[in-house]
Amino acid sequence: MATPSKKVYVDEDVGKDDPAADGSEASPYKTLLFAYIQHPPTQPTDPQYFTRKSETGPVSEDGDPEARKEWKPATKSATKKVTSLYEQHKKKLAKTDTLALREKAEQEKRQLALQEALKVKISEDPKLPKATKIRLNEKDPAIVKLRKGTSEKDVGYSEGRGSRVRITGRVHRFRTQKDVIFLVLQDGYGFLQCILTGDLTKTHDALTLTQETSMEVWGEMWEVPPGQHAPDDRELHVDYYEIIGKAAGDKDAITTRVQADGDPQSLLDNRHLVLRGEISSSVMKVRAALLRAFRQTYESEITPPCLEVTPPCMVQTQVEGGATLFEFNYYGQKAYLTQSSQLYLETCLPSLGNVFCVAPSFRAEKSLTRRHLSEYTHIEAELDFITFDDLLVHLELVMSKVIELALADPKIKKLVYDLNPDFQVPERPFMRMRYSDAITWLREHDIPNEEGKPHEFGDDIAEAAERKMTDIINRPIFLTHFPVAIKAFYMKKDPQDLRVTESVDCLMPGVGEIVGGSMRMDDYEELMAAYGREGIDPKPYYWYTDQRKYGTSPHGGYGLGLERFLAWMCGRWTVRECCLYPRFTNRCTP
Ligand code: 4AD
Repeated sequence: MATPSKKVYVDEDVGKDDPAADGSEASPYKTLLFAYIQHPPTQPTDPQYFTRKSETGPVSEDGDPEARKEWKPATKSATKKVTSLYEQHKKKLAKTDTLALREKAEQEKRQLALQEALKVKISEDPKLPKATKIRLNEKDPAIVKLRKGTSEKDVGYSEGRGSRVRITGRVHRFRTQKDVIFLVLQDGYGFLQCILTGDLTKTHDALTLTQETSMEVWGEMWEVPPGQHAPDDRELHVDYYEIIGKAAGDKDAITTRVQADGDPQSLLDNRHLVLRGEISSSVMKVRAALLRAFRQTYESEITPPCLEVTPPCMVQTQVEGGATLFEFNYYGQKAYLTQSSQLYLETCLPSLGNVFCVAPSFRAEKSLTRRHLSEYTHIEAELDFITFDDLLVHLELVMSKVIELALADPKIKKLVYDLNPDFQVPERPFMRMRYSDAITWLREHDIPNEEGKPHEFGDDIAEAAERKMTDIINRPIFLTHFPVAIKAFYMKKDPQDLRVTESVDCLMPGVGEIVGGSMRMDDYEELMAAYGREGIDPKPYYWYTDQRKYGTSPHGGYGLGLERFLAWMCGRWTVRECCLYPRFTNRCTP
C-alpha cells in the first residue's frame, strides 16, 4: 500500500517563514515558496501543499475572520508560479556555491603564495655605494641620473651625476603591473615615484602592501623615461626597502574609512585621516604660506610696520555682543573666551606703534553655516593716528601684498591654482560701496531682506543677500558706513552723517565678509554714552576707556578671518575645510 502524501500548510495571514515553524496545520508557513524550500516536491503530489487566507474562506454569520478560513490545495496557477520561483532559487543557490568555492580556492592560492613569500628575503647589497638620506624637498638635479637615449637598451647615465639615496615616507598609492610595483611615496615634503622589481615585489610585505604603510626605500634616482610622467620628473629605482609601520587593510583600510564623496559627519570624525589627502594637505600648506605672508607684510612690506603682539584668550569683557560669548568659570568668576583681541591691540598703540596679532577668536555661533566656526584664526591689526581712508588703503594693500607674496612661491602658486583654477588676483583699489548704496542696489536687484520685504536703511544685510550681491558684482567690495544701531559699541560715527559709522566690511565673491573693521570712538564721553546705549557696564572696561583719558588719538583697525580668506583663495566650499580640526556648533572633536 502506498504511503499517504505528506501535507504541508501555508497560512498567508499568520504563518511564519521561519525554520522554527514546521509547516503543520498548527505551525504553518507564510509563503508557498518557503514551504517548497523547506519541503521540496519529491513527486508531483508529494508533499501536498495546502494554503489559506482570510478572503478565500466562506463568510461566517457572526463575522469572525478566523471562521472565514479553510485549508485548500494550492491552486494550479499558484503551483505554476511557485515552481518557477523555486527553480530560480535553486539556480541562485548553485551560483552562490560556485562563487564560494572559487573564492575559497583563490583564498587558498593566496595563502600559499603568502607562505611562499615569507621565504623571500631581501637584503641591502653591501657592494652598492652608501646611500645618502634625503627628504623629498631636496630637488638638487645632481642627485638625478639622466638617461642618455630614449630606448631602454640605450639607457646609461651621465658622468658625475646621480647618487644612491634613502628616503622615508608613506605609501600614497601603488599599482602592480606585470612583475613591477609602481608606488608613490609621500613624506610631507613631496611625492616620489618608486619602482620595485624582482624579489622586491615577491616578499610577504610586497604582497600585503597597503596605502599609508610607512617604509624606507633605498635606490638610485633616475630621470623618468621620455613621454612618461612622475612627480618632479624623477623616479627611484629601488634596490632595497624596509617596512616601518604597516597600515591597516581590508575593511579598516584608509580608503574605506575616508571616501571623497563620503558623508560629511564621517569625514569630520576622520579628519585626522582626511588631512593625509592631497586636497586637505594642500589647503594646510597654503594656510601656512598665508600666515608667513601676513607676518612678512606687517613686518617689512608696509610703512610704518606693525609689531606682532600676543593678547590673552581668557577675558572678562565682550567685544562683539553678548550673544556669541563662550562663558566659563575662572576661579569662581565669570570669564569668556575672547571674541576679538581688538581692545587689547588698542592699548598697545601708545608705546608699540601699529600692532597686529594672529590669535584664535571664539564665537558661540548658533547658526550652522558654511562660513561660521566656533573657533577661528583671527588676524587683527590696529593703526594709530589715521583717517578712515588711510585704513581702507592700508587694508587693500595688506591683502594684495599677502596674495602677491604667497603666489611668489611657485610651489604655493601651483597648489592655489590646482585647488582653484579660477582664482583671480584682485585689483587695487577695491570697489568702495556705502551701506546706503548697497540698500539701493539690493532694492533695484529685487533681493529682499530676511522677512522677504525690500531692504530698508537700518536693516542688517543678511548673509544670503550679501553673498548674492557679492557674487553678482564678482569683485572684492569694501562695504562702508554701516548704521550705528547695527554695529559694535566702539565704532566711531561719521562726522558727516551721525547716523552711520566709519566702518568697513570687505566682501569677497563666493565667501562674503572676510574682514570687519572700523575707526574707533576716541572721545571719552562718547564712549561712556555708547556703553550706556548698549547696556554694557563700563567698570570692567576701565583699561579700555583709559586710552581716551591718557592722550587719545584717531585710530582704527580690523579683523580678518584666516579661514574665510583661505576658503576664498583656495575655492573651498566651507571654512571647515580651511583649519586643522574645525570647531562649530556641537562639534569639538577630534
Ligand atoms: O566682523 P568681526 O566680528 O569683527 C571683529 O571681531 C572686530 N573686533 C575685529 C577688529 O576690528 N579687530 O570679525 C572679523 C572677521 C570677520 O570678517 C570674519 O572674517 C571673521 O572675523 N569671523 C569669523 N570667521 C569664522 N567663523 C566665525 N564665526 C567668524 N566670526 C567672524
